[in-house]
Parts: sequence; structure tokens; C-alpha cells
Amino acid sequence: MNIALCGFMGAGKTSVGRDLAKITGMDFVDTDELAEQLLGMPAGRAIEELGEQRFRDAEFEACREAAKLKNTVISTGGGAAVYERNVAALKGGAKIVFIDTPFSIICKRVGSAETRPLFKNRESALRLFNERRSKYLAAADIVVFGGASVRKIARTIAEELSLEVRA
Ligand code: S3P
Repeated sequence: MNIALCGFMGAGKTSVGRDLAKITGMDFVDTDELAEQLLGMPAGRAIEELGEQRFRDAEFEACREAAKLKNTVISTGGGAAVYERNVAALKGGAKIVFIDTPFSIICKRVGSAETRPLFKNRESALRLFNERRSKYLAAADIVVFGGASVRKIARTIAEELSLEVRA
């Protein structure tokens, strides 16, 4: 079984995903990294230079590729679970976990948003956060609170999905 982590920018998807892979011995993949390989540039730059649609198409391809893997923790970009086609692709091969992190914590983590063109300022990011939260909830098989430590969140996910923990 694969596990796909979704949630807003700065929710902790990548750090929790890496830790979850570590404590369970699963593999790890990040759809942003797969999309970046397809596009030949970082996600933020792709959105600014090639346009968001081009990035979303590569992200869809990345979700489809990731869903084919086995025994893998898939960390997704903040917009991935917002789009039905990505959710459908991921659900084919993964349980979807929403890391529900309060906006105030996200703001502290994201700080300067130079690499995240969709997090330009607090006001527009809060609007996007509120729009997206219901979509993450609808996509998710389970929801975990993202305000805890990385290890605690990883352990909670492992427990809720009855994964064997090695560490
Ligand atoms: C995006 C989030 C980013 C990246 C891209 C778009 C979004 O990933 O996919 O900049 O739409 O929220 P992170 O959530 O890892 O920052």
C-alpha cells in the first residue's frame, strides 16, 4: 500500500513523509520532485515562467507515476489534492492522509515565500487555505493534526493505518 500526504504549503508533508518512510522502512517520493524532473526546473519557477497550468499538468503526470509505485510514502504539493484528477489517480494506489495544520503555524514555517509563488502574502494565502481545506478533507481517508512534532505526526499516521513501525 502507498500513503499519499496532502495539505497546504508548509503543512509538513515532506518532513513527515520522510520520517514516516524512515520509521516504517517504506520508500519515499515527492510529486513536486517528479514534476520538477519532468519540467526541468523548480516548481515555483515553473509556475512563474511556464504558467500554473503547465505545472498542474506535470503534477498530474507525477501523481499518476507515484500511484504506480509500491510500499511508498508519497508527499504531494499543496495544490495536488485540490484537483479531482490527481485525487482519483492517487486513490488508485494510495490511502490519502490530510495533514491539517493551523494557518498560524503554516505562516511561521513558510516565512519568506520566495520559492512559493502561490504564497505571496498572508491575506491571499489565507483565502487559498480556506478554499482548499474542504477539498483536502473530502479527498482524505484519514486526517491528522499537523501542529504536533514531525515524529508524533508520523507515528500517528502509522498507528491509524496499522503500519508496522521499525524505529
Ligand atoms: C503549490 C505548492 C508547492 C508546489 C507549487 C504549488 C500549491 O508545494 O507544488 O509551488 O499550489 O500549493 P509545497 O506544498 O510542497 O510547498
